[in-house]
Amino acid sequence: MTEQAGTRAAHWNAVYGRLDDTQVSWYEPDPTSSLAMLDTAGVDPGMSVIDVGAGASRLADALLARGFGDVTALDVSDDGLAHTRARLGAAAAERVAWVVADLLGWVPQRRYQVWHDRAVFHFLTDPADQARYRDLLHAALRPDARVIIATFADDGPRSCSGLPTARYSPTQLGAVLGSSFDVIATRREHHRTPAGAIQPFTWLAAHHHAIRPAPVTVDDASGTGQRYRGHL
Ligand SMILES: C[S@@+](CC[C@H](N)C(=O)[O-])C[C@H]1O[C@@H](n2cnc3c(N)ncnc32)[C@H](O)[C@@H]1O
Repeated sequence: MTEQAGTRAAHWNAVYGRLDDTQVSWYEPDPTSSLAMLDTAGVDPGMSVIDVGAGASRLADALLARGFGDVTALDVSDDGLAHTRARLGAAAAERVAWVVADLLGWVPQRRYQVWHDRAVFHFLTDPADQARYRDLLHAALRPDARVIIATFADDGPRSCSGLPTARYSPTQLGAVLGSSFDVIATRREHHRTPAGAIQPFTWLAAHHHAIRPAPVTVDDASGTGQRYRGHL
């Protein structure tokens, strides 16, 4: 683990150690927007899902209840995931694959059909880290995958848990994902924190398609000397 990853793990483990998981500002009793965006994106229980930065989120519970059979929860904080494992109980927890890793250094060992990220990408304020995250999407996802990402909206908070955050409008979030993602839907949410503050979020669901290769030039085999330029 790099020094930066170790610092991030210590930061988030301290947050989950200090506060009950129902007291953290991002707590929600039900992952309503997540499930609505998954439905909108046409995600069904037969698909493999990874929830990155899952922490103590109730999404794993909801997916298992819906019959999803291939669910992975990844977080840099083992303490965050421990809340979820304990809540689920041993039998249900065994149905989830747990990955303790820093996203920025993680090397996926397989590909997924659905990527879910609620309130993680917006902590990446360095363009190099944002580029690494985009690379990771390509490495971790099947070409036809769906991506659901929620960040603070462009009028949302500038920090969370003592860390600076980036803020996105739906257009900005779509643009940062790049041209190999087609936006399916966006949504604005006013999340109410346990302390009663309102935090505007931008949600985006996108479809990942295979990157089209650059057009090629080939000689016409008919001997006319003509050349073809385009996609084969
Ligand atoms: C604001 S919380 C959101 C948790 C969860 N997605 C939810 O909706 O309840 C951010 C989560 O991302 C995790 N996290 C932050 N940076 C990370 C990184 N670089 N790699 C993996 N997890 C990270 C934190 O440990 C924390 O659980």
